[in-house]
Amino acid sequence: MSIRLSDGTEIPIEMHKIRIVQKTRLAPVRDRLRAIEDAGYNTFLLRTRDIFLDMLTDSGTNAMTDNQLAAMMQADDAYAGSESFYKLADAVKDIFGYEYVLPVHQGRAAEHLLAKTFVKPGQIIPMNYHFTTTKAHFDLAGGKVLELYGPEALKPESSCPFKGNMDLNRLRDAIEKAGPANVSFVRMEATTNLIGGQPFSLQNLKDVKALIEPMGIFLVVDGSLISENAYFIRQREAGYENASIRDIIREIMAVADLCYLSGRKSCSVRGGMIATNRKDLHEAIRPWLPVYEGFFTYGGMSSKEVEAMAVGMREMTELEVAGSSADAIKYFVTLLQSKGVPVVTPAGGLAAHVDAMRFIDHVPQCEYPAGALSAAVYLTSGIRGMERGSVSMDRDQAGNDVPADMELVRLAVPRRVFTMSHFQYAADRLKWLYDHRKMIGGLEFYEEPPVLRFFAGKMHPKGTWGADLAAAFEKDFGPEC
Ligand code: F0G
Repeated sequence: MSIRLSDGTEIPIEMHKIRIVQKTRLAPVRDRLRAIEDAGYNTFLLRTRDIFLDMLTDSGTNAMTDNQLAAMMQADDAYAGSESFYKLADAVKDIFGYEYVLPVHQGRAAEHLLAKTFVKPGQIIPMNYHFTTTKAHFDLAGGKVLELYGPEALKPESSCPFKGNMDLNRLRDAIEKAGPANVSFVRMEATTNLIGGQPFSLQNLKDVKALIEPMGIFLVVDGSLISENAYFIRQREAGYENASIRDIIREIMAVADLCYLSGRKSCSVRGGMIATNRKDLHEAIRPWLPVYEGFFTYGGMSSKEVEAMAVGMREMTELEVAGSSADAIKYFVTLLQSKGVPVVTPAGGLAAHVDAMRFIDHVPQCEYPAGALSAAVYLTSGIRGMERGSVSMDRDQAGNDVPADMELVRLAVPRRVFTMSHFQYAADRLKWLYDHRKMIGGLEFYEEPPVLRFFAGKMHPKGTWGADLAAAFEKDFGPEC
């Protein structure tokens, strides 16, 4: 929620009390330099002890509620027939309106099962935008991901309320070209993660469905951030201003044929699921669940997490929960903008996204500007963000680098974890970095895994810019900062 102060400014207001806290530590800049060097300039390879504010991701890092933690104590660890599962199934029925549910250990496991079941070699999978693990699974199954976003989607600065919408003409053309039988399904991601957490509108989802249904193609929603997408629909789509988050989610799910999700985001746990009302789709996937994940009533999740997911799923439909990250992100993005830091607008659903292409426009894309900037942000603030640019794209089959559509540094805002002073600190250090941006140089790989290289790849800075930046920072702020 946001609240307006008497001087007219709007601030995010926490509709909760913080009663359990975890210590964090701001390592001095010299230590941070050593840590990022050891990590091969890859923020994934840093250790928590060296991180002040962990904005790598909102995945599995949201603060849980007292009710979620209480539910975990009631877990039924039965291998088969666990009562915990039936609580989850009840929540899925109530919130999503779906009859069938398959729990999985996390979102990519759902993607694996969907790829295994529905993606045949040579088929296309149209979507509003890919996610890294989604694309990896669909590629490995021999499918081809087609991203059919609209003209505003890749513009970093925009006032378009629904940059996550699918372009219907592009969709029609793609299906015509491939032939409907060669379309595995159409996938819509609720707030497109890689291009700034941008939502789709309900109208667009309905239009997509109306186009593909007569051709016998089914519609899959990646609902990992479903409550955030619903929150934006409520704020931005005419006719929904008075609708509840619950009603909007129900309406989305009534349009979709199947929803899968990472429970690590909107549901604030560590798990995932695939849910549908289509018996045929359910029965096609179901046999593979115990092969790859676990028995039907736990699917690779711990029963404790199954319990907490049932609660988290209900809680995500509360307006102040659905909007807790979104409103904090809006505040953070506005603050960054006010300091001249180039960010993706409108503010999205999971993070503030800094536009590395504009921040360090002197670093060419082949030298990974978003990777370099995320390392520089860590060096100058102790904040860990995530590279979402060309490092996050794997090489093509010929071994060539694939330049990403956007070069972003994602500063994720997990729910209920950070406070306004954290955002103010972050914006201040980013402003310092922006003023010293010419010091930042590029990166080159010295260790590069073949798949999802961003997780474990290691890079060198080109030249000595890391050490030089640390020295300049120390000069301005002193050795302890
Ligand atoms: N789909 C979307 C839209 C996601 O954002 C993620 C994960 C997944 C699927 C895969 O789910 O991690 O539970 O296996 N996003 C995380 C992130 C990793 O940091 O944004 P998972």
